[in-house]
Order: sequence, then C-alpha cells, then structure tokens
Amino acid sequence: MDYYERAKKSLTELKDKKDTVILAIESSCDETACAVTKGRQVLSDIVASQIDIHKRFGGVVPEIASRNHTLAVDNVVKEALQKAGVDRRQVDCVAVTYGAGLLGALLVGVSYAKAWAWAADKPLVAVNHIQGHIAANYIAAPDLEPPFLCLIASGGHTAIVAVRDYDRIEVIGSTLDDACGEAFDKAARALGLSYPGGPNLEKLAESGAPVIAMPRAFSGQKHYNFSYSGLKTAVVNLMHNAQQKGEEVNRADVAASFQQAAIDVLTHNTLRAAREYGLRTVAIAGGVGANAYLRQSMDDIAKREGLRLIYPPLSLCTDNAAMIGVCAYTLIAKGIAPAPLTLDAKATLSIEEVYRPTV
Ligand code: KG4
Ligand code: ZN
Repeated sequence: MDYYERAKKSLTELKDKKDTVILAIESSCDETACAVTKGRQVLSDIVASQIDIHKRFGGVVPEIASRNHTLAVDNVVKEALQKAGVDRRQVDCVAVTYGAGLLGALLVGVSYAKAWAWAADKPLVAVNHIQGHIAANYIAAPDLEPPFLCLIASGGHTAIVAVRDYDRIEVIGSTLDDACGEAFDKAARALGLSYPGGPNLEKLAESGAPVIAMPRAFSGQKHYNFSYSGLKTAVVNLMHNAQQKGEEVNRADVAASFQQAAIDVLTHNTLRAAREYGLRTVAIAGGVGANAYLRQSMDDIAKREGLRLIYPPLSLCTDNAAMIGVCAYTLIAKGIAPAPLTLDAKATLSIEEVYRPTV
C-alpha cells in the first residue's frame, strides 16, 4: 500500500472517533499558526504574528509574508506540539489551510504540512480558510450543530451563509465589491491609523460619536448582499476634502460614524436572513467578529428576537490554526477524502467549496 492508500484507510478509521488528535497549520496571510486539537478541544494554539514586520509598509507585503512563514513555521509547529504535550506518534491527522489567501503564504503551510504528514505517515486534510472561521464557533459552543446561520466578516470575505451541514454551506448573500474588514483597513488608513486598521479604528471610535451621515448600501433591499466601496470612498473623500480646505475634522467622530454604518448593514441583513430562513441559531465568523460594537449589536438583537447567538473568543475570531483543526475534525466525520501529496494552494476559493482530490 502506498502513502495515499494508507491515508485513505486511516481517515476512514477516524470517521467515528471523538478524540481525534489533529496537528493544524494555517499560513494564509500574515499569521504563522499551528494548533493541536482533540475533537473540538484545543490542546494548544500558537500564533506567530507578523504585524510588526508589515506595519511599516501600511499593509501585508505578500513576498515578505511568505519568507517569514518559512522562517517561523518549523518553530511554531514544535511549540504547538510541546505545549499540547503531544508527540508525533500521538497525532492522528494533519490539517492545513489550502485557500483562500496569499498564494505564496499558503504554499509555505501546504508544503510543510505535506512533508510532515508524509514523514509521519499520517493522513492530510485540506481545509477552506473561511470554513475554518465558521468552525471557530464549534470550539466556542461544543454543542453547536448545523443548521445555523453564520455572518462571515473578514479581511477578504463578507457574507451571510446558512450552514446546512458541516460540509454543506449555502451562501445567502455576499459583498459585491470590498469586504467589510478591507473597508475598515482602508478607512483606518485614511484616518492616519497604522496597520492593522480594524482594531485601531475601533479604538479611535470609542472616543467619538456617530454624528456624520454615511452611506449604507442596499439597506431596505430584499436581497442579502453587501457593498462597501461607497462607504470606504466616503471616508477617504471626507478626509481628503477636509485636508485640502485645511479644515479640522473630529477623527473620532468619523471613525464612530464609519463603524456604525459598516456594522449596521451586517446586523440588519443577518437579522432579516434569520427571520426569512427560520434559523434560530446565529454564529459570527472572521476578524471583524472581534469588533465590540458588532458583538454588542448582535447581542441586543439576539435578546430581542430570542435567537441563540454564538461568537468565538477574540483570539479565535482572527486567523488561527485551532479553527482549522476543528474544521478538519468535522469534515472527517463527513467522510472527506485525504489530500494527496500533489495538493496545491488556491488563492481564491468559494466559501462553499470542500476539498475533493482529483486523483
Ligand atoms: O479573519 P481575519 O483575521 O483574516 C482574513 O481572513 O481576512 O480578518 C482580518 C480583518 C482585517 O481587515 C481587520 O482589520 C479586521 O479583520 N478586524 C477588525 C477588528 N479586528 C480585526 N475589524 C473591526 N474591528 C476589529 N476589532
Ligand atoms: Zn481569516
């Protein structure tokens, strides 16, 4: 039997196991992350952030991200295993993010995971990054099972999805242009804030008031799509015009007004979708899920509507590998095929895509 045949056999044997130990690797953007998970439990969760490296460029520089993943990945994996108190033989399976993200960055994690899986003779599971974000909610709520509604708001994606099953996701609405997190980052830059923009803009908004009118695209429409380019441009223009005229702007008020407009369309659409689709459990996924105004607004809505609301702890909202491990665990139970050693990384991947090998 060759490696792949053995991987198929092992994964079939893991299908009904509840305490599967998974070594998970995530390198889709600027965090080199590795975690060891056991079922839905997190044994260790290591994230080596490159924020300080990319800060001076005002955003992530893809090639620098790849190089730093290469430097960090081996130590991050060793640290995750050590913190978990797990050795190579105790790992049942390796999981890795294969898309979507920066291609060169993804390739570092994918190549490392393939080498590790082959050397340890363990099956490899390829995970869709956005499905990983959704799976962070399985850690936050160990009893959570589909179906449920999920609001996804990250740096690359903004969507509302119905999670019909662990491997069956239906996109109800998504952004037609920029993602919500991307709008946060660009608005933050226009406000003179440093990278990463989202959390810095949130901090500035705390001392401001939402007194400036901002565009709220598609509010009052029947569909569930989003558009953030108009809102982003509104902030950029406002700051630019003020600068040209030499006028003083209350930056904190701009931040608070932007934040309210950006988040309100998310919460309103999510509430409408929950009603329309009859889904009483609502989860939140992705980096913008760390935003306190979003969490508070969703808390208020859930209380008023009698919905069950779930959101991951802050550390599991932004990129991490624990969510990738738990996502793989749920996919193994659904019978996903292992990834072959020819597994490639994908810069773009639709939210609903589950990895299917072509061998
Ligand atoms: O999910 P994530 O870590 O990476 C992607 O998969 O894209 O999301 C990163 C995005 C960035 O755009 C960042 O500015 C935003 O999430 N973000 C926030 C907050 N924390 C992170 N946006 C608003 N408020 C926050 N507290
Ligand atoms: Zn992410």
